Amino acid sequence: MECYRMQVVVIVSLMLLFPNTQGWGEDGHAIVCKIAQSRLGDTASEAVKKLLPEYAENDLASVCSWADHVKFIFHWSSALHFADTPENLCNFQYNRDCKDQNGEKGRCVVGAINNYTNQLLSYGRNKVHSQYNLTQALLFLSHFMGDIHQPLHVGFLGDKGGNTIDVHWYKQKQNLHHVWDDSIIETAEERFYGSEIGDFINAIQENITKEWDSEVKGWETCNSNQTTCPDLYASESIKAACQWAYKGVTEGSVLGDDYFLSRLPTVNLRLAQGGVRLAATLNRIFG
Ligand SMILES: *[C@@H]1O[C@H](CO)[C@@H](O)[C@H](O)[C@H]1NC(C)=O
Ligand SMILES: *[C@@H]1O[C@H](CO)[C@@H](O)[C@H](O)[C@H]1NC(C)=O
Ligand SMILES: *[C@@H]1O[C@H](CO)[C@@H](O)[C@H](O)[C@H]1NC(C)=O
Ligand SMILES: *[C@@H]1O[C@H](CO)[C@@H](O)[C@H](O)[C@H]1NC(C)=O
Repeated sequence: MECYRMQVVVIVSLMLLFPNTQGWGEDGHAIVCKIAQSRLGDTASEAVKKLLPEYAENDLASVCSWADHVKFIFHWSSALHFADTPENLCNFQYNRDCKDQNGEKGRCVVGAINNYTNQLLSYGRNKVHSQYNLTQALLFLSHFMGDIHQPLHVGFLGDKGGNTIDVHWYKQKQNLHHVWDDSIIETAEERFYGSEIGDFINAIQENITKEWDSEVKGWETCNSNQTTCPDLYASESIKAACQWAYKGVTEGSVLGDDYFLSRLPTVNLRLAQGGVRLAATLNRIFG
């Protein structure tokens, strides 16, 4: 108990010192997980309920940023949130790009999604205990499925996925990575949804069933029966990073309505795809 309390104090202090520097922000991740949990079939729904920690009260979204909060305790996990490309290349190649700072292969968001998917596939198969903590596997997978859909989580190595590009978001000093993690989403919520995340989620859900209805099957599908296909999600992200996130932005750029309104559709789409694909993956894992 003491140890647990100490951990909480440490985590909370670290959260205050380093507010969300990576990953869609809290809202982006919560949106992805809310959409995903609403699309689970009965068996996946039951498995998720069993695996979630009790304090989550069967709400995956409430723990969707857990992986960001433990980065400072599980140092090994920080390389697993992204996969950047060298020399400003606009395509993703697993063998070239999926490694950590020390060059260790597979240590990137694509490798991590495969890793935690494989761990979860052991759910219910091992009568004694899985060798892995499947609660953590579920929380990591849910978080990384969000991250991989944030275009600048598959950005350029040279600028750390936009983290070193300083810009102004309207009048506020910001870096480009943070603009895509948080600012676009927050500005959309304030301007169009009365600052209610629930209304934003409903608007995306509505487009999933109407606007994007004919595309959703394609989003859910992977080639040759793979349980999940993060290579594809990463390839889409670096393309969107080049086409939308980096486009027209240089150090010191002032990003306002022109940038916000033209990029918001991409953010909406990526949040929707992240949610749909997390659900499809969990349905295949547990189904
Ligand atoms: C796979 O998961 C284990 C358990 O969390 C972790 O130790 C390892 O670093 C992970 N590797 C990758 C590439 O995700
Ligand atoms: C698995 O991980 C969760 C979340 O970190 C933790 O609360 C739980 O105690 C762990 N379970 C085991 C059996 O270690
Ligand atoms: C939903 O689709 C409409 C029509 O394309 C678009 O105007 C609106 O911005 C979309 N909203 C979201 C949240 O995707
Ligand atoms: C995919 O898996 C299903 C069910 O396991 C099987 O019936 C089907 O033949 C597989 N398709 C391919 C292309 O491997």
